[in-house]
Amino acid sequence: MPDAEVQRDALFDAAREAARKAHAPYSHLFVGAAIRSVSGHIYAGCNVENASYPLGNCAESSAIAAGVQAEGVGFRIAEVAVHAERPDGVPVAASPCGGCRQRLHEFARDGAVPVHFRWHDGVPHTLALGELLPWAFMFSR
Ligand code: THU
Repeated sequence: MPDAEVQRDALFDAAREAARKAHAPYSHLFVGAAIRSVSGHIYAGCNVENASYPLGNCAESSAIAAGVQAEGVGFRIAEVAVHAERPDGVPVAASPCGGCRQRLHEFARDGAVPVHFRWHDGVPHTLALGELLPWAFMFSR
């Protein structure tokens, strides 16, 4: 198997493991995200919902928080995988939501960063972050 696929599958495994720890009593959608940083470490996170629905946070947010906590200001994203499943373990299509695309962009700063996710055809897809979020906002003054 090519190196790129081995790396992708390792990220999907970490995302799946994270998804199984999700706190999703309202949507019953268990989401996990795994990020490989430029320095080579993998950080994973799950969605954490709240009874006040808008307060819940996405799996990608949790994974980013873990990366920032571990690596500080130098944290940079090299690759991302997202996995979602139902309570019975059946995988569900899920690409990063619009807000999370912007969150990922903040720490990737590179439109070429690959994002892997499973789509409705049931197979993994890989798109560049810049394809998912073209013309991304970047703060400058
Ligand atoms: N969710 C994520 O964790 N990541 C996304 O990119 C899309 C949505 C979560 C939020 C909520 O807990 C559940 O999926 C249903 O929307």
